[in-house]
Amino acid sequence: VPAFAGDIDLAKKSVLNDILKRGELRVGFDAGYPPFEMTDKSGNFVGFDIDLGKELAKSMGVKFVPVNTDFDGMIPSLLSGKFDVIISGMTLTQERNMKIGFSEPYLVMGQTVLVAAKHKGTVKSYKDLNDPKFIVVSRMGTTGEEATKKYLPKATYKSFDKEVDCAMEVVNGRADAFVYDLPVNEVFQAQQGKDKTYLLNEPFTFEPMAVGYKQGDPDFANFINHFLRQLKNDGRYERMYNKWLRS
Ligand code: ARG
Repeated sequence: VPAFAGDIDLAKKSVLNDILKRGELRVGFDAGYPPFEMTDKSGNFVGFDIDLGKELAKSMGVKFVPVNTDFDGMIPSLLSGKFDVIISGMTLTQERNMKIGFSEPYLVMGQTVLVAAKHKGTVKSYKDLNDPKFIVVSRMGTTGEEATKKYLPKATYKSFDKEVDCAMEVVNGRADAFVYDLPVNEVFQAQQGKDKTYLLNEPFTFEPMAVGYKQGDPDFANFINHFLRQLKNDGRYERMYNKWLRS
């Protein structure tokens, strides 16, 4: 055995190795973000991201272990080793990408606006909300919050800890609009907001969603990217898409 064999065996340093040894893939996400991750009536985690995590675990031959974590603490939790990957509808931003690695995007979406029904006819674009008389809400620490501050700097912004609280502010008439990811706003519009809200569903930002992992692990990155390409081309991705995202 060469004296430095261990030092040059990069694969041994990959988290891939820990996952295989443990026999578990631990996936970080934040339930309450339909249709990607939510809790069903029996308390199980379900949604597009959950299925994606299960497929990733299956492709490694290990058990899927869900780790429900507050979105605001998602990156620190990954870095401290609470789980192996983030699959949480997380937008790949350049700012986050300096702290963690991201896979190829598995979906592209963007910000949209869920608006209180009383504004129908007057608020026709997100731009119409750039006025202090409008209360615009989003979730703390998300790209929805970022987009609101950037594109609607004059609006009165209020942040909340959960997506459902943002949606309910608009449904109950306490806020004028909720700036958030398209698929999520579509679910809230259809479920809670039927007559009380309408959706400006033309995304006004470009947001690739990707799997997050710890930097410095090219073997793991390589595995995830090839897994995603396989999933996208062998029919599994389409089935997942039709199940959760076809509206
Ligand atoms: N896409 C948005 C972002 O990256 C929101 C993601 C929130 N995810 C969640 N599981 N609650 O900031």
